[in-house]
Amino acid sequence: MSVGDEREFTALPFEEKYWPDLGKFLEIRQKSLEDIEAFWDERARQLIWIKHWDQVLDASNPPFYRWFKGGVTNINLNALDKWIGTSVEHKVAYYWEGEPGDKRAITYGELYREVNKFAWVLKEVIGLKPNDTVSIYLPMIPELPVSMLAVTRIGAIHSVVFSGFSAQALAERIVDAKAKVLITADGFYRRGKVIDLKKNADEAVKIAEERGVKVEKVIVVKRAGNDVHMVSGRDYWYHELIKEAPEKAYVKPEPRKADDVLFILYTSGTTGKPKGIMHSTGGYMTYVYNVFKWNWDPQPHDIYWCAADIGWITGHTYIVYGPLMHGVTQVMYEGAPDYPAPDRIWEMIERYGVTIFYTSPTMLRLLRRFGDKWVEKHDLSTLRLLGSVGEPINPDVWKWYFTKIGGGKAPIVDTWWQTETGAAMISPAPGLALVPLKPGSATLPLPGIDADVFTPEGKPAEPGKKGLLVIKKPWPGMLMGIWGDPDRYIRTYWERFSKPEEGIWIYYPADYAIKDQEGYFWLLGRADEVLNVAGHRLGTAEIEDAIVAHPAVSEAAVVGAPDPVKGEVPVAFVVLKEGYEPSEQLEQEIKLTVRKIVGPIAVPAKVLFVSKLPKTRSGKIMRRILISLIKGRPIGDVSTLEDPSAVEEVKRAVEEFKKLMQQS
Ligand code: WTA
Repeated sequence: MSVGDEREFTALPFEEKYWPDLGKFLEIRQKSLEDIEAFWDERARQLIWIKHWDQVLDASNPPFYRWFKGGVTNINLNALDKWIGTSVEHKVAYYWEGEPGDKRAITYGELYREVNKFAWVLKEVIGLKPNDTVSIYLPMIPELPVSMLAVTRIGAIHSVVFSGFSAQALAERIVDAKAKVLITADGFYRRGKVIDLKKNADEAVKIAEERGVKVEKVIVVKRAGNDVHMVSGRDYWYHELIKEAPEKAYVKPEPRKADDVLFILYTSGTTGKPKGIMHSTGGYMTYVYNVFKWNWDPQPHDIYWCAADIGWITGHTYIVYGPLMHGVTQVMYEGAPDYPAPDRIWEMIERYGVTIFYTSPTMLRLLRRFGDKWVEKHDLSTLRLLGSVGEPINPDVWKWYFTKIGGGKAPIVDTWWQTETGAAMISPAPGLALVPLKPGSATLPLPGIDADVFTPEGKPAEPGKKGLLVIKKPWPGMLMGIWGDPDRYIRTYWERFSKPEEGIWIYYPADYAIKDQEGYFWLLGRADEVLNVAGHRLGTAEIEDAIVAHPAVSEAAVVGAPDPVKGEVPVAFVVLKEGYEPSEQLEQEIKLTVRKIVGPIAVPAKVLFVSKLPKTRSGKIMRRILISLIKGRPIGDVSTLEDPSAVEEVKRAVEEFKKLMQQS
């Protein structure tokens, strides 16, 4: 919202002469929407299946759509096994680089052998069975994709938890997924320091046990060599387990039904409890395979780098499953983008000869701030495609990315999508037919994707008018549901605009958008109580729950304030309990509480103490007022307010905050 509101929505096609393929693209898309089943049927046949499906789309129980009903496969067949015996076997899959500069190059053949060994360990030593859930809490090291592939190879279900999350956040996800096995590491490097991951993992296992879920086995990858406590009978070193596997271990990929769960990934929603988004084996595989091809048009010589973390959906799709299904050579990096110097990323692009680079607007804004001299030190002429993901990209950052990083010749592939959608939904598709680009627009929906913008009343919005994004037809990459909570799945994504009595089902992503006169989509940020901090999705309720866990806090309301680098940062309005006084120290303590309960990314930029929050007569916090004040907008109708003086107090607090921000 904050970033989007300042756009020129009527921006003209940017350098249209480079990519004039609009007509061809529209034709492909038109045809796909006339018969989505025929379209995806043909696309799914490009993959390896153990058994083909009986039905492309089972829509008998909406919104629980099931793709490729009756089909059987295993994603390993398409990501690994199919390369064995081909020239790709000897090609590098990952050029991995640690933050301190240590390096590994792993070929497809080596990856295949390591995955087989680890799958053997998981099956024969650890005793995992198909459909068991495994939590994976690993930093950006090759053992992370190895673990994911080994887990799916044996038909188990992974739940990767971002290594920046706290012990409590990990525990919550272990408990919800009922994971009996946890894969983690001793530690990893971040800005020159070793982060003690195993300590968090130990604490999480303890909390999970108190909450009734006993993690029976913990597998620990040795990465940073820091001192860790290994619990005998529970904790095992990864490298010792791997030694037990036969040198030529081969584990047959477990046949999985197309609608068996491939993985769960937790994401934030509007309540304090994260949602376990379930992706399907056959649908996700088909969608990711195709969209990866459309987005990047992968060529044998490409060196591709997606600078996300595998702990988020972008990494699942665009570092693990997507690129491996295309035999792409990747760069994978462990650490901070500005360490040891602000040109770390540019230096690596030059050194590896990266041809496709995919990152977030936050990273671009951060790196741009250091000044162009860091970019100019490096030859980035190998780049042929640039990607953006996770948040709206400001037109000026877009133009900088295009001219300064891409040298005016690499199209920008701005991909709009969500954890729930599996892969990009609205984005340029150079692998099909590249349409003219507009700085700041994700362009057009991909083939097979029926996107539109609605008014709050559920009517198509007028071109150029801000409304709510909707998806009007199912697609193979869609989530299967929320782990253990089918009602929440319906409520969150389908209730807003569907008309079940008329057989109309409409997916609601909770994003604001504008569709312009030419049908281009401009994504404007979340329309619900979810923040997008540095491209990371965080529920305000999650942060509020953490704040009220502090004994001095009576009430808290968190809203997003605009930030020049991170897009948005959380700001907390806090009412203290009787007997407590606002203080610097209390602010620090509250921040620490959030850090402990959720993780460093969720820590509020500022805690603003107020004696009361604006509420309706029925006692509901009027969040809308807080948001308007923070964003400097008119506060609108306040007739339902219980106590207008609360607004004055909040106003003063916000002014103080803005002064502070200007100073820094
Ligand atoms: C936002 C990340 C504008 C959006 C892949 C969405 C974007 C949320 C873009 C999902 C983009 C993602 N332009 N906004 N290109 N990509 N978003 O689940 O608000 O971590 O709903 O998935 O990020 O975040 P998630």
